[in-house]
Amino acid sequence: MVDMQTRYLGLDLQNPIVVSSCGLTGTAKGIHQCVEAGAGAVVVKSLFEEQIDAEIDEGRETGELSVHPEASEYLEQMGKQLGPSDYLSLIAQAKAENSVPIIASVNCITGEWWVNYARQLEKAGADAIELNVSLMPRSRGDSSETIEKRYLAVVESVRKRVSIPVSVKIGPYFTSLPALAHALCNAGTHGLVLFNRFYQLDIDIDARVVTPGYQFSTVHEIYQPLRWISILRDQVSCDLAGSTGVHTGKEAVKLLLAGATAVQICSTIYTNGLQQIGTILGELESWMEHHGYQSLDQFRGSITQASSGNPAAFERLQYIKALTGIN
Ligand SMILES: Cc1cc2nc3c(=O)[nH]c(=O)nc-3n(C[C@H](O)[C@H](O)[C@H](O)COP(=O)(O)O)c2cc1C
Repeated sequence: MVDMQTRYLGLDLQNPIVVSSCGLTGTAKGIHQCVEAGAGAVVVKSLFEEQIDAEIDEGRETGELSVHPEASEYLEQMGKQLGPSDYLSLIAQAKAENSVPIIASVNCITGEWWVNYARQLEKAGADAIELNVSLMPRSRGDSSETIEKRYLAVVESVRKRVSIPVSVKIGPYFTSLPALAHALCNAGTHGLVLFNRFYQLDIDIDARVVTPGYQFSTVHEIYQPLRWISILRDQVSCDLAGSTGVHTGKEAVKLLLAGATAVQICSTIYTNGLQQIGTILGELESWMEHHGYQSLDQFRGSITQASSGNPAAFERLQYIKALTGIN
């Protein structure tokens, strides 16, 4: 019998498999089903900054969105579906019904005005808050420095108001992830979730209109979080949760070997059903037994880039081999 307990964001989890923020975690029933299926923790579906905006200040102009009537209308409807007060009730109910940590999630773009709401999430019983900071640079006027400062401002504002742990879910597109990750951890972030999978854009070539891309990940998308967790593990002090591309126990093992504290899953549950949580746990357990490990700490972070000699030279060589076809 192996012990899969882990400590993520200072919270005790029975196992490292966390259901990430998605439609499945947007209702009390869905959250409970994830827990029953074996999840070590659940991140609740994000509340969008614009939803908080809609309820607490109906007259507010939401910058970029206010010039898109369709977007505003959609957000207004979303706000009515699950507004901030409903969200607080959902957190409270999820806490009352489940024994695993319940992590609230806010999808935000600024750190300015909504952060008092973070305090209410804490009061409602959230064990931690995951900030899904969605800042997509679109203009040549958006410098790396400006964008990164906004990430830090969001974290600093929220950290000032709550005493529960705060994690930040980021995308992979930064000039220097080690520098940003280090700055976020220094600003008091307890954990980084690597990575968010942004909304994918496609184009319908017959209708010649923009359409949504495929919304679920594939197993091949694991390489990006894997690379960055293995690079960052020895350089930052906060927890690292792997996200995007975990479809089976194999990807979970890889992320743990690279140094992940926890592993988030979403697409695989949509495509394989809730029982996939148990399947992944079973595969992780079998792998640990096969290799003689009794606990995660015995192998976690044992294959980081720092531990593998000269990783930059190794990676460069593999890249040249792949591109030249010379083995
Ligand atoms: C239908 C759906 C809804 C999602 N909603 C959210 C959300 O509200 N907040 C968030 O941070 N991520 C959201 N995500 C992203 C997932 O949490 C996750 O980061 C992403 O799907 C990559 O992980 P995966 O490869 O395990 O699917 C959503 C994903 C899907 C498929």
